[in-house]
Amino acid sequence: MPGISRRNLLRSGLALSASTAVANSAWGRTAAMLAGEAHAASTEALAAVAPREHQLFDFGWKFVFGNGTDPARDLNFGYGQGDFAKTGDFKFAKVGYDDSKWRKLNLPHDWAVELPFVHDEEQRSHGYKPLGRRYPDTSVGWYRREFDVPASDAGRRVVVEFDGVFRDVLLFVNGCFIGRNDNGYAPFRFDITDFLALGAKNCIVARVDASFGDGWFYEGAGIYRHVWITKTDPLHLAPWESVVRSELNGSAATLTLDAAVTNEGKQEQTAIVRWKIVDGSGNTVAAAESDEHAVAVDGVTHFTATASLANAALWSPDAPNLYKAIVTVEAGGAARDAEQLSFGVRTARFDAEKGFFLNGQSMKIQGTCNHQDHAGVGAALPDRLQYFRLGVLKEMGCNAVRTSHNMPTPEWVEGCNRLGMMMMCETRQMSSSPEGLAQLEVMVRRYRNAPCVILWSIGNEEGQLQNEMAEEGAKIGATMVRTCHELDPTRVVSAAVNGDNSKGVSDALDIIGFNYNLRFPDKFHAAHPTRAVYGSETASAISTRGEYTTDPLRNTVSAYDLNQPGWGETAEEWWTFYGTREWECGGFAWTGFDYRGEPTPYGWPSISSQFGIIDTCGFPKDTFYYYKSWWGKEPVLHLFPHWNFEGREGDEIPVWVHSNLDSVELFVNGASQGSKPVPHLGHVEWKVRYEPGGIEARGTKDGKVVLTEKRETTGPAVQIRLTADRTEIDADGEDIAILKVEALDKDGRPVATAQNLIGFNVSGDGALIGVGNGDPNCQESDKESRRSLFNGLAQVIVQSTQRPGAIHIEAVKDGWEGPELTGAKLTITTRPVTLRPAVPVPGSRS
Ligand code: GAL
Repeated sequence: MPGISRRNLLRSGLALSASTAVANSAWGRTAAMLAGEAHAASTEALAAVAPREHQLFDFGWKFVFGNGTDPARDLNFGYGQGDFAKTGDFKFAKVGYDDSKWRKLNLPHDWAVELPFVHDEEQRSHGYKPLGRRYPDTSVGWYRREFDVPASDAGRRVVVEFDGVFRDVLLFVNGCFIGRNDNGYAPFRFDITDFLALGAKNCIVARVDASFGDGWFYEGAGIYRHVWITKTDPLHLAPWESVVRSELNGSAATLTLDAAVTNEGKQEQTAIVRWKIVDGSGNTVAAAESDEHAVAVDGVTHFTATASLANAALWSPDAPNLYKAIVTVEAGGAARDAEQLSFGVRTARFDAEKGFFLNGQSMKIQGTCNHQDHAGVGAALPDRLQYFRLGVLKEMGCNAVRTSHNMPTPEWVEGCNRLGMMMMCETRQMSSSPEGLAQLEVMVRRYRNAPCVILWSIGNEEGQLQNEMAEEGAKIGATMVRTCHELDPTRVVSAAVNGDNSKGVSDALDIIGFNYNLRFPDKFHAAHPTRAVYGSETASAISTRGEYTTDPLRNTVSAYDLNQPGWGETAEEWWTFYGTREWECGGFAWTGFDYRGEPTPYGWPSISSQFGIIDTCGFPKDTFYYYKSWWGKEPVLHLFPHWNFEGREGDEIPVWVHSNLDSVELFVNGASQGSKPVPHLGHVEWKVRYEPGGIEARGTKDGKVVLTEKRETTGPAVQIRLTADRTEIDADGEDIAILKVEALDKDGRPVATAQNLIGFNVSGDGALIGVGNGDPNCQESDKESRRSLFNGLAQVIVQSTQRPGAIHIEAVKDGWEGPELTGAKLTITTRPVTLRPAVPVPGSRS
């Protein structure tokens, strides 16, 4: 890496992106509440700064399935040689084409989650969804949108930007082919200025083909991330080139400010770039301006300046302080373009002997790996759901996430910035091919301002590149690491390696990640005492929420922390290893949340993995409290299992407590079973004979009982209960409320074993967008207005419209069978808000 030694790199300070600060040290309130507040403020971060226009392009699309093999069922596209022969011939992408039979929808959209399950072992990785070349009817989707371009846009550049689409996209505007994109995760953009009709209606069409995949897990299908239209002056800031880097000296920070300006006009321009730095309270705390430079026609010129913050408020998981930089390019005495980015000031250091340090303070990485899907919505997550998921992880004491195994959404990164969650940001393809490097480059450019990102990952478990092709792996790894360093000299680069890290890509890495294989790190550390080490992927422990026996006939795994595949470790095993070695920087457990696809340890009818510490809805499994005990800061006492084992009277039942208190005493129907000390990084357990009634745990700290918890044998479910994460949401057509559905007995106690089928009537100013229950074996539809409870719980997600008012949700017993249940009702208020700028839907009020 030119000019930067590994040592300096490991010790350098950090910087970058997001927006208004979340209240510091407010962690007394629940993580979920903070996640709601952070989300409410997040639209501001994305706001365009005049004179630029940056509009959400999500609303008012039309959709129809195409076909992967039959042109007659693919809008007559693909008949042969002449398809791309002439510009302007694509009729489906011309204004006035009849799309009246197409379905109306808003983005983000994942059509895979809407498809039925198919019992086809080839589709196992994708969660048994019919995608791929053998399923031509359900693997190609067409998205179409007409939109007005005002005459006043004359002279401006217009760019359409996709945050990510699964997977292969052909893009058309006004009958013209514009371009293609062939991966499922990286953003891509096209300047469409020349193809637009001013003062008229225009048309854009995307043909999305999910026949090929990128991974071995559920990946969704369609335009599952946001789309944007950006309009600028021909003299404008180059995308993802505005960078703020900080260096800390005592309590002051020096900011190095960079930007690049492109001139797509007809004359050379003399330009200057100005920066305004705003703190979390909205005060301007610094300003800077560059020297004047010429920007040639079709040229790009770099501008730089420095600024300083006298008393920098540092970013950390506990105090995620953020700053904004407003970057403006001026020429001829006028502002020509501007953008706002967020950044943070912090240092991150991976030390080979002492582990990880953030802002000079020793800190273990308490991380989880996560895919990007959720119950009910698949890969198309409303922004708020990303904050919700981060809130759940935060509640567990998790302080870092790894974006396995692909570039994340901007909202996941923004959420991490705002809520205080460190990130290992990983690219999809480990390759120095043009495509591999393009994906890597766009990831680093896009997110290098984000203070949450503490390391880049060039990939995961490339067996060939570590073994048979180790020599090629070494070259590929070196090129990718060098690329990261050139674009971002402030962060370390790593990879998730399943092996001993003795060859292949490992030599080039700044820090060494081990996937599983607890036998390797000690040896590696002894042989390479100057190389920092962490667990890039650990655990793969498996459990089913609320199940306390492992039953291969029912595809369940008991929720005691006892089960892992041959390559994995229990939570207690891996954290006892990583948590007790000073030189280990910490690690990332596989996985925070269950995810669709890669069903493990069972196949059909399982459609999800069971690796999660949390299920696909975000409901914690019991192991969540193991992590909360040893990762969190609060006293924890979690007693399990439930106490509803009708028919098993007299059987021996293991009773466990996850706790960080000194000792725990267990009572069964009032009789003490003895007190046990809680081992450091361990748990306590008893075996007791089941009899109906109740169990109680009393946890002691410094000789005093500080926490107690009970599990009681409940009666049958007689009543439904609905609770929402928030009862007031934004009327912006994007915000959601996440409802928990439970069944209660006649005394109002949740019935942990209830499996009742519940129906939902949703009316008013919103709609149901998905349901789930966290059951890895449930093949009920994610999109219907009904769901079975799974071990006492289900989830309903409702989304606002843009009309302020109320969403009414009624839950009722569904079907004739089973005992009667009293229904429940809940109203969510949708409040008027300033909508974020969006491309108007022709014919609508907006
Ligand atoms: C790892 C892999 C993950 C996931 C996991 C399951 O080897 O990196 O993507 O497949 O195994 O245990």
